[in-house]
Amino acid sequence: MKILGISAHYHDSAAALLVDGLPIASVQEERLSRRKNDAAFPLAAIEWCLDQADLEPDSLDAVVFYERPLLKFDRVLTCLLRSFPKSRDAFTHAMKNLLGEKLWMRGIIASELGISGRKVIFTEHHQAHAAAAFLTAPTECAAILTADGVGEWATLTVGQGERHAGRGTDIKLRRGIRFPHSLGMLYSTFTAYLGFAVNEGEYKVMGLAAYGQPNMVDKVWRTVRRTPDGAFALDLDYFEFQSTVARSYSKRFVDLFGPARSPYDPIDFGTQDGQRFADIAASVQRVLEDILVDIARDLHRETGLRDLCIGGGVALNGVANARILRESGFERVFVPPAPGDAGCALGAALYADRILLGNPDRAFPDHPFWGPSIDVEDLVRLAREDGLEAERCDDRELVEMTADDLAAGHIVGWMDGALELGPRALGHRSILAAPHSTEIRDRLNRDIKYREEFRPFAPVVPVEVADRFFEFPRGQLRLARFMSGVFPVREEWRDQLAGITHVDGTARVQALPREMEPRLHALLEAYGRRSGIPVLLNTSFNLAGEPIVNNVVEGYSTFRRSSIDILIAGESRLAKRRVQRPVVREEQLA
Ligand SMILES: [Fe+2]
Repeated sequence: MKILGISAHYHDSAAALLVDGLPIASVQEERLSRRKNDAAFPLAAIEWCLDQADLEPDSLDAVVFYERPLLKFDRVLTCLLRSFPKSRDAFTHAMKNLLGEKLWMRGIIASELGISGRKVIFTEHHQAHAAAAFLTAPTECAAILTADGVGEWATLTVGQGERHAGRGTDIKLRRGIRFPHSLGMLYSTFTAYLGFAVNEGEYKVMGLAAYGQPNMVDKVWRTVRRTPDGAFALDLDYFEFQSTVARSYSKRFVDLFGPARSPYDPIDFGTQDGQRFADIAASVQRVLEDILVDIARDLHRETGLRDLCIGGGVALNGVANARILRESGFERVFVPPAPGDAGCALGAALYADRILLGNPDRAFPDHPFWGPSIDVEDLVRLAREDGLEAERCDDRELVEMTADDLAAGHIVGWMDGALELGPRALGHRSILAAPHSTEIRDRLNRDIKYREEFRPFAPVVPVEVADRFFEFPRGQLRLARFMSGVFPVREEWRDQLAGITHVDGTARVQALPREMEPRLHALLEAYGRRSGIPVLLNTSFNLAGEPIVNNVVEGYSTFRRSSIDILIAGESRLAKRRVQRPVVREEQLA
């Protein structure tokens, strides 16, 4: 059975293809269109996925959309009417938006793909999140927690998933919290107030939080309260996202926290305002964590299960995920590489396959590499056109040379195999560097990533030795497989890992199993033989404001436009002319 999943029209559109229950391909539209967070109907992603299986659209058995447009329409209409006439402008905007295309998804999908509308089916948005979290995790039975901004009505759900060999699969979402009460919207409102782009700047709030003290927790608790049934409710007097598109926080919110930060002002921790913004970030982060930990703890008590799968955009908060692992009582916590809406394309397809159509369960390959692969010939050709020579090396030679490059302080653009699904570079489209000094971090920020200084860079380490450098609760490394948790760097290593240690002594570490990306794993070991520390700084291969590179042409262009010293694409290596071949060889160090 051939099933195509689609997510679109909010942010980060994507497509995913399942054939006989197994994933064949999945990619975000932005990686192909080169428009960051592209929310358009993902035609390029769909075409690419179908190409991978050599399929025409009419041979698909079902096309699944990741939410129910009519339910969403109902929510938008209800909320706007509740706050009419204040919502007059938002009403006009929403009606144009929804009536323009979003409401008629069955017809749009049918006409874009040239298929019968009968083949188009829908999942609820949080069913897609739940399936993306549970059905991709190596567990037979787990509690499920999903949390995001909003889908149709639900903003958070709790439930349970079970897979029975030969007897089908169950996902039951027992309870939910409905819009406008939303942890995602709470965090996004603070993201906007702190001068960052909503749906993108949430990482920055989490990074900024480490510079502050949670000394405004009481104030944040005025905007949100716990309810006796274990849920939470926002005090809507502090918010405007439910009634206008212009601003997400109200005048009362500003009265409580002080003037908002302009996106154009730098954050200076030496000023009162700079420190206030960091303290506000720390406070909302603490409240978000406390609520999630409480809900997860209740869920553990209620289900008595060992495993928890978390989905939805809120699951990108690695600090909260690590606290849930430490404090909720669950032994293992799983977060997929794409817990946000892009991963819903895969989640919707899986939900339709296993639950709606009742197909048998299949073990899901435990990696994030479902996108386009690179063609190494491209690098040789592109370099030659520019009068440069890309070297072809065998695997071992390439790994040893790259370890030398990194040990010599060079910055390496690393492309290998198929593109990652989700927002993180997990070893196939990465910029790598030595993790030891703050200078290299500052150089990356200044010359390549152009990021705010308070945002940390992440490390990657072989899973076998991860525990030596980082502290994982009860030795549980699973959250670090896809960089979904923030953990303390062991104190004795913090000086030598200054480039990846955040100001609060933590890091969003990836603990890499050899089988997931053998070449990067070998590189880490080779680098460890040189430095004594098999850890590298690993950041996504893109420039500020651009999506992660997909093919070699984009990797090469980024290499040429930035201070990346070496570009590796599969078995090819290209160095900038100013970069000398390192002279220190492994034998000399031994
Ligand atoms: Fe979502």
